[in-house]
Amino acid sequence: MNLNDKEFFSQSVHKYIVYKDIDETLKKYRKRVLSELHLRNLTEDFFKDRVLIDVGTGFQAIVASQMGAKFIYHLDQSKSQVLWMQEYCRLNGIHNIKSIQCDITKNIPIEDNSIDIVLFFGVWHHLITPSDFIRQLIPKLHVKESYVWLRVYRFGSWSRWLVENLRQISKKTDLHVIENLLNIRYPHLSSDQYKGDALDDLFAPVWGAFHPRQFYIECVATFINYKDFEYNFNDNDENFRVDFNLNNENIELFKKFNFPDKGECQTDFKFNKDYEIANEIQNIFNNWDEVIGSDNLEDKLITLYELVRKKPIFNFYTQVYIEDNSCADFTKRLELLLHILNTFKKEQKCI
Ligand SMILES: C[S@@+](CC[C@H](N)C(=O)[O-])C[C@H]1O[C@@H](n2cnc3c(N)ncnc32)[C@H](O)[C@@H]1O
Repeated sequence: MNLNDKEFFSQSVHKYIVYKDIDETLKKYRKRVLSELHLRNLTEDFFKDRVLIDVGTGFQAIVASQMGAKFIYHLDQSKSQVLWMQEYCRLNGIHNIKSIQCDITKNIPIEDNSIDIVLFFGVWHHLITPSDFIRQLIPKLHVKESYVWLRVYRFGSWSRWLVENLRQISKKTDLHVIENLLNIRYPHLSSDQYKGDALDDLFAPVWGAFHPRQFYIECVATFINYKDFEYNFNDNDENFRVDFNLNNENIELFKKFNFPDKGECQTDFKFNKDYEIANEIQNIFNNWDEVIGSDNLEDKLITLYELVRKKPIFNFYTQVYIEDNSCADFTKRLELLLHILNTFKKEQKCI
């Protein structure tokens, strides 16, 4: 990882989806934190008088502070995000958040035996060696009782499968060219979330999709909203959640567990007959260079990325958003994806 990678999220993702409108972002994070609590049958007073770690932008830390947490350590490797949080807390008279710039896989500069709850949402799959984070974290946890909550990219969901394939193509393109094209194709502020998500998916320096079984520790791991699956392109969440509710009795099992650093590869997967068309698509992606080639790669990538997320399509010519339902179910999405890829194949043959 080079120096610049440390600022990737602030420079290419969060400027679109976090810092554009702070009030809206706070509302969004409050909703998210509440839904994480509800999923676990908890209410917002759960944070009351507890000491937390929040890794990432720090907005969960702000929400936890509003919900009565005693103290929150906000950790991020990004200098600009940490400076932003420190200034935000200063301006808003928040005294129970300490924002620290650090690489959480190398050093967590917090007192031992002090942490009750760790909110680790959306970060595991972006670390080179996330198991090192757990190693650094263990001594910081309260020995009597603590909670570590993870939200991780899920292997075999529609968006993660397609993105893993698209990342093979984005490697051959330039982030700034794609960013410019996204700004041209989607000029409206209301598409900023989409642009941030696209740059995150296509260019995050580290990316992996994990299977829940990689986190299974008997008597320690609890899967929230877990469905047993190998792959599943329906409307299930593109993440899974796993909690470790730790205490004197089970902490040794947690310490001994081999946490996964790498996700599971989705591009050599063989789908069953309900998803047969996905095998055909996978074959095209795996042989992209021969069957499609490198012409207009950026445009092709953006066109394919449109299928990753259900979103209203913006018609550039009429300047109107079309609430398009053609991607509503996974068979239709697969058919559309195959159709687009076959169009690219035909174009290649004509050249
Ligand atoms: C997808 S983002 C944030 C997700 C989080 N749910 C949020 O919104 O705050 C991932 C964050 O992890 C941070 N990060 C990535 N690797 C890190 C590391 N080794 N140490 C500390 N922070 C890291 C990035 O800078 C980024 O802010």
